[in-house]
Amino acid sequence: MKIFLDTANVDEIKQGIEFGIVDGVTTNPSLVAKEGKGFLPLIKEIIAIVPGPVSVEVTATDAVGMIKEAEEYAKISENVVIKVPINLEGLKVIKKLSEQDIKTNCTLIFSPSQALLAAKAGATYVSPFVGRIDDISGNGMELIEDIAQIFDNYSIETEIIVASVRHPLHFVQSALIGADVATIPFSTLSKLLNHPLTDIGMEKFLKDWEKVAK
Ligand code: E4P
Repeated sequence: MKIFLDTANVDEIKQGIEFGIVDGVTTNPSLVAKEGKGFLPLIKEIIAIVPGPVSVEVTATDAVGMIKEAEEYAKISENVVIKVPINLEGLKVIKKLSEQDIKTNCTLIFSPSQALLAAKAGATYVSPFVGRIDDISGNGMELIEDIAQIFDNYSIETEIIVASVRHPLHFVQSALIGADVATIPFSTLSKLLNHPLTDIGMEKFLKDWEKVAK
């Protein structure tokens, strides 16, 4: 499973890349707004340090406007993936961009039917939001299972990015289902590594090592 960092914070991205296991980055308008920097300079700064796909979201609401933004962002780097919302205008955009070999990430996916339509339009990735489904007492991971089953039934190549990940269990369940990518906040990345028994074990090994004649 590929690991993307779900952030527009350059320090977090730099630290994540030091882990050596980050394959890409996803951003959205809310994450960009939190940084208080100009949009394009920030995206270019991120692109310069990430050795993989970086999702950049369009904000126009009509197909013509979204395509204009997408074409501008795609010129920045081959690693730019255009994030497009799932709706009728978004489907038109995904179709058009896929004909131009511009990679797309269809976002705000909350149902299997939305994921299937995005895939049929030619999306490179779909991003189902598991945490936001859990927030309203649903089961986000069931959505991942359903989409994975549908894509498997028809050998669909669109990759599933598990998005809106809130905790390590979402990450582990994504891997058990066989999702292609989990995009995770930096805080979750750190939690994936830690285990108290590892710390206790290390402490004991080092203490015992002191008793060994060298
Ligand atoms: C990523 O593609 C999504 O925009 C992001 O994971 C949404 O996460 P949130 O529900 O925590 O805002």
